[in-house]
Amino acid sequence: MPLELLEPPSLTATSVEASLQYLEPSPDRPVVSFANEGRGETNAVFSPRRVRVLDARGLGATMNVQGFELIRHASSVADFEDDDWVKIVGYGEAEQIVQAATGARRVHVFDATRRKRSPDSPRQPSVRVHNDYTPASARQRVRDLLGERAKQLLQRRIAFINVWRPVNHPAVDWPLALADARSVDAADLVPTEIVYPGRVGEIYSLTYSPRHAWRYYPALALNEAILIKCYDARENVARWSPHTAFDNPLAPPGVPPRESIEFRTIAFF
Ligand code: OGA
Ligand code: FE
Repeated sequence: MPLELLEPPSLTATSVEASLQYLEPSPDRPVVSFANEGRGETNAVFSPRRVRVLDARGLGATMNVQGFELIRHASSVADFEDDDWVKIVGYGEAEQIVQAATGARRVHVFDATRRKRSPDSPRQPSVRVHNDYTPASARQRVRDLLGERAKQLLQRRIAFINVWRPVNHPAVDWPLALADARSVDAADLVPTEIVYPGRVGEIYSLTYSPRHAWRYYPALALNEAILIKCYDARENVARWSPHTAFDNPLAPPGVPPRESIEFRTIAFF
């Protein structure tokens, strides 16, 4: 599809109305299990809420205030679907991007997740409002990944940051919505157990609040990336920006299904 077809005037609208899936409050601890492949079985109830998602372009959002930011970056990865390109070139780029954006002493890249909204893809866009870690699971992840060095590393500031970028074409279909960290209350965050085949993790699901200030980057381009703060040990800055993919009402018919990759990193200060 020619590029100009992806950018009709409507894509420059300053906001869209969308449905986001929120956790319904419940006395039970939510558990989502990916133990048996597939989309995740859960005891929790998620239901859609209508929200307004504002264009974040021109906002000048930063990871320490809103919890996310936009960067321009032309990747040298020739093929994001090729593991060698992702591991050998992509990881190094993500490390440099996060290092430059944070001034961290060292950055550790530990995962890359490709998603595609197509029936044959094992990883689909994530359609529930969440934050990737809780303070407990972030610290546990450092221990799991870095073994004996963890104890020392955890005595200083660390932050978990995702580098999220479109693959093959701009992210028009099912883009990412991000909540301004300042609009999220501790009471909105519900620790949610995530059961993987060999590991149990914990994320935050979110219950609805009309205070949540939602943002997105219309038609995020191949030379752009979103940095998403998912945990910060420091408490006087934005600690996380909950997020989710959403069905974009402004996506023109026939626009290609969203393809993306997110690099997961830990910044050590
Ligand atoms: C993430 C994430 C969801 C998506 O990068 O942490 O939740 O749909 N991504 O890309
Ligand atoms: Fe996430």
